[in-house]
Amino acid sequence: MTRRFFVTLSMTLCCTLLGVSFAQVRVFIGSTLRPDVIGPILEQFTAETGIETEIEEGGATTEVRDQYLSTILTSRSGDIDLYLMDVVNPPQYAAAGWAEPLGGYFESDAARDEFLEPFLDSVVAANTVDGQLYGIPAWTDAQFLYYRSDLLEKYGFEPPTTWAELKEQALAITEGEGDPNLQGFNYQGAAIEGTNCTFLEALWTAGGDWRAEDGSVTVDSDAGRTALAWYDDTLASGITKPGIAEETTDLSRQAFQAGDVVFMLNWGYAWALFQEGQEGEDTQVAGKVGVAPLPAFDGGESATCVGGFQWAMNPFGDSKEEAFQVMQYMASYDAQKELAISASHIPARDALYEDEAVLAAAPQFGQFFDVITNARPRPLTPFYGEVSELIRTNMNAFFARAQDAETTLAQMQSGLEDILEQ
Ligand code: GLC
Repeated sequence: MTRRFFVTLSMTLCCTLLGVSFAQVRVFIGSTLRPDVIGPILEQFTAETGIETEIEEGGATTEVRDQYLSTILTSRSGDIDLYLMDVVNPPQYAAAGWAEPLGGYFESDAARDEFLEPFLDSVVAANTVDGQLYGIPAWTDAQFLYYRSDLLEKYGFEPPTTWAELKEQALAITEGEGDPNLQGFNYQGAAIEGTNCTFLEALWTAGGDWRAEDGSVTVDSDAGRTALAWYDDTLASGITKPGIAEETTDLSRQAFQAGDVVFMLNWGYAWALFQEGQEGEDTQVAGKVGVAPLPAFDGGESATCVGGFQWAMNPFGDSKEEAFQVMQYMASYDAQKELAISASHIPARDALYEDEAVLAAAPQFGQFFDVITNARPRPLTPFYGEVSELIRTNMNAFFARAQDAETTLAQMQSGLEDILEQ
């Protein structure tokens, strides 16, 4: 943590003594999004402005938080003022009236454009729905292949570029190590938001997509079959443990951090925790972790899912002007730099990819700038909630061995067709 965030509590103290009353901005943040790192930045904001903030900690996964947010926002509750909105949500939340349009908070369109100019174009685009801005970029994200660099080195392997190579290496290493706790390949198979990416990444790296250019759904396709045959094989070959249907993003991260995984698909935040852990946690893998782009199938190309979070405002909150100040502060260069260094949240600002302190803490951000900026979106639709539930629950049934590949693909295909026809 940088020194800056520990220093200036004096202003708050002085204002408190003078009896100045503060507006309070309540900020809803998921438990796995590093509220422990975001909190001190908010404290710094309070010290500088006199505006109090309070964190309300939410669930560990996007779909759990989505459920809470939909309850709060549907009932027009002002209990929270700001929240972190997953990159999949702007079209849906904008259509539902759950995110305040932000254009009017800037002095002019020119001032808005100037504010947004330093951010990655793709991230600004993801926050813009029908020409209106609904979120201020907090950080972007992408899935990577994390691997145990010490083990790959011991067995003389380079990071795999194909899934077949990953399997060979995983088998060789787990057999060689003879440790029953060591898993070859871990990914997310629970019925969580991230499991949509587990599916899409395999589909993309097989040369497919969920939809063709003419708009028709193409999930039940050769690429779809290749993708699911691969996941079948991860279980049949034993490189992946049978419990994968229970695996959430943070459980995967914890297993890898405990030293029990050779290869894992996961998001940016995992890196900082591997190096340092967080309160109450150890790490067994500091200095032993490599990061690579996702492998592809023979003849396919590497691809990954775009992720990330935006500061969004509750339209029913009663401290909107203050909330807008918090959003701007949290998206500032210094705040994003701190998030990149201490939480390995991948910057949404271009210039941070050339910041030496950021690159020293997370060299992969510079090395894989192209991977990050070319990450591909999950379906962008106001019906994303339904799309997500359809894919993740079908994939989860497949991983739980309750449903075979053919049925899974057929159900996702017809379900997507129905949803998108609405
Ligand atoms: C990460 C990503 C987010 C994604 C989630 C899925 O937090 O940043 O976009 O939806 O993982 O688990």
